[in-house]
Amino acid sequence: MCGIFAYINYLVPQQRKAILETLINGLKRLEYRGYDSAGVAIDGGNDINDAKQSPPQIIKKRGKVRALEEEIYSKDDLNLDLEYDIHCGIAHTRWATHGVPSAINSHPQRSDANNQFIVVHNGIITNYKDIKTFLESKGHEFESDTDTEVIAKLILYLYNTRDDAKMSFRELVENVIQQLEGAFALAFKSIHYPGECVATRRGSPLLIGIKAKNRLTSNHVPILYPGDPRADPPPEKNNTTNSGTEGVTFKRSQSTTDFEVLGEQKEVEYFFASDASAVIEHTNKVIYLEDGDVAAVREGCLSIHRITRKKEDTAVSREVHTLMMEIQQIMKGSYSYFMQKEIFEQPDSVVNTMRGRVNFEDNLVTLGGLTEHMSEIRRSRRLLFIACGTSYHSALATRQLMEELTELPVVVELASDFLDRSTPVFRDDVCFFISQSGETADTLNAMRYCKKRGALTVGITNTVGSSISRETACGVHINAGPEIGVASTKAYTSQFISLVMFALMMDQDRISTTPRRQAIMQDLKRLPELIKEVLSLDGQIKKLAEELWEEKSILLMGRGFNYATCLEGALKIKELDYLHSEGILAGELKHGPLALVDEDMPVILIIMKDSTYVKCQNALHEVVARKCRPIIICEKGDLDAQKDASSIVELPGMSDCLQGILCVIPLQLLAFHIAVLRGFDVDCPRNLAKSVTVE
Ligand code: UD1
Ligand code: M6R
Repeated sequence: MCGIFAYINYLVPQQRKAILETLINGLKRLEYRGYDSAGVAIDGGNDINDAKQSPPQIIKKRGKVRALEEEIYSKDDLNLDLEYDIHCGIAHTRWATHGVPSAINSHPQRSDANNQFIVVHNGIITNYKDIKTFLESKGHEFESDTDTEVIAKLILYLYNTRDDAKMSFRELVENVIQQLEGAFALAFKSIHYPGECVATRRGSPLLIGIKAKNRLTSNHVPILYPGDPRADPPPEKNNTTNSGTEGVTFKRSQSTTDFEVLGEQKEVEYFFASDASAVIEHTNKVIYLEDGDVAAVREGCLSIHRITRKKEDTAVSREVHTLMMEIQQIMKGSYSYFMQKEIFEQPDSVVNTMRGRVNFEDNLVTLGGLTEHMSEIRRSRRLLFIACGTSYHSALATRQLMEELTELPVVVELASDFLDRSTPVFRDDVCFFISQSGETADTLNAMRYCKKRGALTVGITNTVGSSISRETACGVHINAGPEIGVASTKAYTSQFISLVMFALMMDQDRISTTPRRQAIMQDLKRLPELIKEVLSLDGQIKKLAEELWEEKSILLMGRGFNYATCLEGALKIKELDYLHSEGILAGELKHGPLALVDEDMPVILIIMKDSTYVKCQNALHEVVARKCRPIIICEKGDLDAQKDASSIVELPGMSDCLQGILCVIPLQLLAFHIAVLRGFDVDCPRNLAKSVTVE
C-alpha cells in the first residue's frame, strides 16, 4: 500500500511554500498507508507557457514524510515565495513492493532526465518486466528498481510516437493503462500539459476532493465514453486564458462537464488522494473514482472518462459526496481501530497476496521470487519453517499440506527455541523465515545461523527492504499492505496463502495430485467472497464477546488443520484481552487438559468436516460429559456438531487445508471485541511492540 496525493490550484494563487505545505500535509495524513520513503513533484517556474524551459522539480527522500519535509526546507535553491496562479503538484508516500526503500525508488517516478512525464503509483504492475524489456529495446534507460518507472517511460514513448499531435493528456494516459496489468492508482503531470493532472485507478483506491469558490450547482459529474462530444473539446486559438500546449491556447469550453458540477467557477482547487483523510481539511466535497475511471483536470475543468462501456456500466455519473467525518475517523476508514480495519481488509489483502501469482484458468502458481530456486528446493533433504508468534502459527497451519504436496520432511520451529538448541542444519536443508516485519531479532538471527551453515534461506515477509527480505537468498513478499495494529491479523492469512501457494508450486508437475491442486485453487479463487461472508458474522461475534468478556480464561480446542487456528486464536486473546487463553490439541485432551474442563470453563471447539471430524466429535463428547457447554465453530448446517453447543458460529465449508483461514477470523473478531469491552488499547496492547527487534 502507498499513499497518493495531488493538488491542483486553478486561478487560486498560491506561493510555492503553501503548495508544498499542502502536499506534505496530504502525505502526513496518508502516512499510515506506507512510510518508508516519500516524494513530491512541483513546477519549476511559475510561467505556465514556459514549462519546458524550467521543468518540474522532484524531491524524494528515504524515511518518513518528516524526513522529506526536512529535505525540502534544507534546500537553499528553492524559492519558496514564488507565486503560481495555476499549478499541479503530485506527491507520494511509499510502502515498498518493488525495489528497496531509497530516494531513487521513491515516487514520483519520471520518464527521463528532463522530467517530461511524472507519475505517482499505488499498487503493483505485474507485467512491468515485459514493458521494461520493450522500452529498453527502444533505448530507454531505467534508473530505479520499481515497476512504476515503466509507466513514466511508457507514456513518454507513446507521446513521442503518437500519430495525433493534438492527443490530450487524458488520451495518452488511457493508452498507457491499456498496456498495464496488475493493480494501480496513478496520478500524472507533464511539462507538455502544464497545469493539468490526469488520475486513474484499477484495484487501488482514489478520490477527488473539490474546493470551489462558488457553490456547486450539481452533485454529479457525468461519465464520458468514447464518442461523446463533451469528452474532448477541441482546442481553440486566441483565447484569453493563460495556459496552453504546443502554442495552442485552450478555451474553457462550455461543453465540458465542469460547469455542471461547479457552476460558473473561475477559481477552483482539486485534491487527488488515496483516501479522504488527506482532503478533509480542505473540503468535504469528494468524488470516489471507480475502477477504470480516468479523471482529467484541464483548464480548471474536471471530467471523468471511461475507455469502454460494459453491460454492467449502468452509472451515468459519479456523485459528489459530502463527507461528514472527522479526520481521525477517516484515517481508519469507518473503523475505530487499525486492527479492526485490518481484519476487515482481508478480502482484499488475500487478493493482493495472490495477484499475478495464481492463474485460476490454468490452475498454475508462479512465485516470481522462487522460480529460479525451485529445482534446488525440490532436491533438498528437508524444509524448515522458522518464525515467532503469529508467523510461526502460519507455518504450523500449513505444515500438513506442505508434507502432503512436497513429500519432504517438514520441520516447524520457534526461532528462539531453534537458536537455544543450536539445532543442526545442513547444506541440503531449505530454511524458510516467516516474518511480517522482516525485522524480528530471533527470526533474523536464526536466518543468519542457517545461512552460515550453507542452507538455502527463503524469506516470507510483508516488508520489502526489511532485513529478512534483503538477507535471504530468495523469497516471497506477501503483499498484505502495512499492518499497523500490533496484533497480527491480515499478515497471518496472507502468510498462510503464500505458504499454500509455495506447496502448490512444489507439486505443480505431479499428475496424480492434479484434482487436489485444482480443488484448492478454485477455493483460493472463492476465498475473498467467503471471507466477506465470515466477516458478516461480526454482530454475532460481538454478542459472544459480551458473554465472555468478564471471564478469567478461555480454552480453544481443535485438531488437524485447525490446531494452529486454536493457538493463533488463544494468542490473540492473550495479547489483546490480557486474559488466560490456551489453544489445545483436541487429541491431547485426555492427557491432561481435560482436568481444566467443568461447567464454568468457557471452551471454544472447532469442528470442521475434514479427516478429523469424528475425532473432534469425540472431543465434544468428552467436554460435554464434564458438563461444559462449548461454543462450537462448525460448517454451515452441521446439526450434529451443534447439538450440545451453548453458541454456534457457522462458517462456509471449503478445502480442508484452507479452512483455517476462515476459522481464524471469528477468533480475531472475538479477541478484538473483548478488548474493546474490557477498555484496552486495541492497537497497542501493553508490554508489546509491532516489531520485536530484540532477542
Ligand atoms: C515482483 C515485484 C512485483 C512485480 C512482480 C511482477 C518486487 C519486490 N516485487 O514480484 O512488484 O509486480 O515481480 O513481475 O520487486 N525476496 C527475498 N526475500 C524475501 C522476499 C523476497 O529474497 O523475504 C526476493 C525474491 O526472491 C525476489 C524479490 O525479492 O527476487 C521480489 O520478491 P516478490 O515481491 O515476492 O517477487 P514477485 O512476486 O515476482
Ligand atoms: O514481524 P513478525 O511476523 O516476525 O513478528 C512475529 C511476532 O512478534 C508477531 O507475530 C506477534 O506474535 C504478534 N503481535 C501476534 O499478534
